[in-house]
Amino acid sequence: MSIVRALAALLAVASAGAWAATAAALEHGEEIYSRCAACHSIEGNRTGPQHCGLFGRRAGTAPGYTGYSDAMKASGIVWNERTLDRFLRDPPRAVPGTAMTYAGVTDARERADLIAWLREATQPGRTCTIQR
Ligand code: HEC
Repeated sequence: MSIVRALAALLAVASAGAWAATAAALEHGEEIYSRCAACHSIEGNRTGPQHCGLFGRRAGTAPGYTGYSDAMKASGIVWNERTLDRFLRDPPRAVPGTAMTYAGVTDARERADLIAWLREATQPGRTCTIQR
């Protein structure tokens, strides 16, 4: 086998592996979201605010949701991978006074997979519709 063909074969294996890992991570993330589904859904406000449109949104501003704590509204957080990781690790510590009575997702791998899945599942107009 030529060097180029050998490299191409290696690359194909590597990228198939990376894709499989991503698909597995997303599947795992969706599983973790079942813990959130007691209070949340992607589309529609329940006990907690709707998650459609979460990335890039200011904390405390999901359309039509009236249950926010003053602490969340005043937090100044904009949701992205980093702020979600911090909040979901320990909600009452990240936002003291939050109305989200949930202890958090302490496992870093679980949080990473959950956040990766949320990023996919909360894209307005592509994977979900914001309820006004
Ligand atoms: C027991 C009910 C409950 C559970 C379980 C729960 N949440 Fe929440 N969540 C809430 C409530 C209530 C709020 C509003 C908090 C506030 O205003 O202080 C909230 C707020 C949020 C926010 C801020 C949203 C915004 O619009 O600013 C995010 C992000 C969030 N939750 C993610 C999650 C994720 C992810 C899980 C699962 C790991 C989860 N929550 C589990 C009730 C819950």
